[in-house]
Amino acid sequence: MNIQTLLNQRIQAAMVAVGAPEDAPALVRQSAKAQFGDYQANGIMGVAKKLKMNPRQLAEQVLEKLELDDLADKVEIAGPGFINIFLKNTWLSEALIRLRHSDRLDVPMADIKETVVVDYSAPNLAKEMHVGHLRSTVIGDAVVRTLEFLGHKVIRQNHVGDWGTQFGMLLAYMERLRAENQQVSMALSDLETFYRAAKLCFDDDPEFANRARELVVALQSGDKDCLALWDEFINISLNHCEETYTMLGVSLTRKDVMPESAYNDDLPQVVDDLKAQGLLTESNGAQCVFLEEFANKDGEITPIIVQKSGGGFLYATTDLAAVRYRYNTLKADRCLYFVDARQSLHFQQIFTLSRKAGFAPQDARLEHMPFGTVMGSDGKPFKTRSGGVAKLSALLEEAQERAFKLVASKNPDMPEDEQRNIGRVVGIASVKYADLSKNRTSDYQFNWDSMLSFEGNTAPYLLYAYSRVASIVRRSEMNIDDLQGEIVIQEPQERALAMQLVQFEEAIQQVVSDGMPHFLSAYLYDLAGTFMTFYEACPILNAQSDVKISRLQLALSTASTLQQGLNLLGIETLERM
Ligand code: ARG
Repeated sequence: MNIQTLLNQRIQAAMVAVGAPEDAPALVRQSAKAQFGDYQANGIMGVAKKLKMNPRQLAEQVLEKLELDDLADKVEIAGPGFINIFLKNTWLSEALIRLRHSDRLDVPMADIKETVVVDYSAPNLAKEMHVGHLRSTVIGDAVVRTLEFLGHKVIRQNHVGDWGTQFGMLLAYMERLRAENQQVSMALSDLETFYRAAKLCFDDDPEFANRARELVVALQSGDKDCLALWDEFINISLNHCEETYTMLGVSLTRKDVMPESAYNDDLPQVVDDLKAQGLLTESNGAQCVFLEEFANKDGEITPIIVQKSGGGFLYATTDLAAVRYRYNTLKADRCLYFVDARQSLHFQQIFTLSRKAGFAPQDARLEHMPFGTVMGSDGKPFKTRSGGVAKLSALLEEAQERAFKLVASKNPDMPEDEQRNIGRVVGIASVKYADLSKNRTSDYQFNWDSMLSFEGNTAPYLLYAYSRVASIVRRSEMNIDDLQGEIVIQEPQERALAMQLVQFEEAIQQVVSDGMPHFLSAYLYDLAGTFMTFYEACPILNAQSDVKISRLQLALSTASTLQQGLNLLGIETLERM
């Protein structure tokens, strides 16, 4: 049930009936204060200005045409021409009954089911995933789950970096270990150490560096032995990624990997197409595209380099090929890119050029979903204590260990395997939720104490709230199927909870339209708080039979909504904590 959409439609119809243009927005929002009703429409003033009318007068005319008798019991004009809407309790309780009996909380499937390509996670396979990959992976996965929940067809694209000059160095090091009869697979069990050792050789040993360069050429010209070595490396590195995805509970699998190397054969064609369209300029021997849209105030343009002077292709060339593939082969209606904000210019250039060159339709919905950096307490990008980049798998291990200790100290009598399981769920959820609850576009500080706290907008708070609501329903010893009957809304705390429950769909719409899961996090946090207030004011288990049944249904719907919401964020719930 999307009340906002429903009210927008009704008010818009009334506006049109009194002479407003078809596309005049009603701008319906949830009201911030109870005195302004449950919803308010803010669109009248703008339309009045266009029609050169007095806004209050226009509002009065709109009210005359407005049909809301079925859902509102009061509609008023406030201030210069706001329309405040007060929903009927009977309508609310009917909406709640529908929600209660629907296995998807009465959230309808999208009217138009789109094919959405989502580019996320995308680590560079030369190294292991580090904390910088957390945001793309976790936010992308939450948006993917929500899109699928609404019935869209999602095609995950894990655009991993598996190509480029670093691989020469890594292959040369594999060769060397092998020549020395050392176990390569052992050495690759820690990619960070492996990378550092290879880099040391590369920097200190000119012969090794030469061999590395030879291997890059051999790899790019398709040399069999070299490809086999590279395959082995990539495979091990992807296994590391998959272990991390499993630990994180992220839905990416091997079949979602569409690596940079997969586009190799398309790259000459991309350059030829750009040339045929007169878009290429040679600059210092490199093939470049200069787009006027990207000129700075002095008229200087940062070019898109698509081919180096030596003939090699670049990151941008691959991304152009990927856009073309996503539209032509995957038949995308919309493409989302969850990539660091520092790549914003890159994506704006790629998107503009793709439309210009016809790699994507003119009106292609190519959307970069940038995110900020994970910072340490010193205000600089988050590092380990020893100053290195924090390996994601190590970070997740630490989260589980810390959460386990916390659980063990709170529940010393619980069997250890249960403490461990709760520690695993809470630890992972804490890291993910700390990220998902922040506005995607800002930087945020990684802080163990605040993410593992049971107070505030945190995973432990929400998981605990869920388990508490679930336990109230359990303690009633009622069979869920017997929880039938009217949901009566009498107390203000009952009403506040009911209202919030029927607003679930509005919260998830923002996740898919803007790629912003923090709106859903904020909603769930508020919902848990509203439930606690309701629970303090309105006894459930000791109430009269029909009040008890009514309130239990509110509790049950709260539990289902918290669980479904957390699930869309990719967070597992616990029945007991
Ligand atoms: N591998 C890249 C990096 O680590 C991210 C790739 C993002 N996706 C893309 N289509 N460029 O920076």
